[in-house]
Amino acid sequence: MPPGRIAILLTVNGVAITRSVEPRLTLVDFLRDELGLTGTHAGCEHGVCGACSVLLDGDPVRACCIFAVQLDGMSVTTVEGLASGPGQLSKLQDAFCETHALQCGFCTPGMLVACHDLIRRNPTPSEAEIRRAIGGNLCRCTGYQQIVDAVKYATGTQGESRE
Ligand code: FES
Ligand code: FES
Repeated sequence: MPPGRIAILLTVNGVAITRSVEPRLTLVDFLRDELGLTGTHAGCEHGVCGACSVLLDGDPVRACCIFAVQLDGMSVTTVEGLASGPGQLSKLQDAFCETHALQCGFCTPGMLVACHDLIRRNPTPSEAEIRRAIGGNLCRCTGYQQIVDAVKYATGTQGESRE
């Protein structure tokens, strides 16, 4: 192993991976540059925008604020792992298409991770709960309403009140 690097063994989207990484390498750079999983976006790179969100052992985290060496023995799910297979869309991803919940798409991977986590915890969220769940993810394009609509579409709660 090259000097200064540390070996890690982790699972990414269900696949066991072994790598040696520099201690300063962030998870978002590890995913994008080492594994080619460019669905996870690097935006602010200091924990504010949510574009880099992934699931770590099932819970959402900001991949720009975690070092890859911290992940030894852990399991990561990126936006690429939310669907059941390559070339397929999850119900939520399909709903984003149906309701036009993206424009430039930069925030979309993080939004999908946040909304996926919400639906896993709460299969029929209210509009207020949806808005709270995406409150830590910034979108400069959509005005958020279509993203809220996408979660309602995916969960079959379109006709329910805004409260
Ligand atoms: S890139 Fe990680 S929170 Fe913005
Ligand atoms: S779709 Fe452009 S930032 Fe959200």
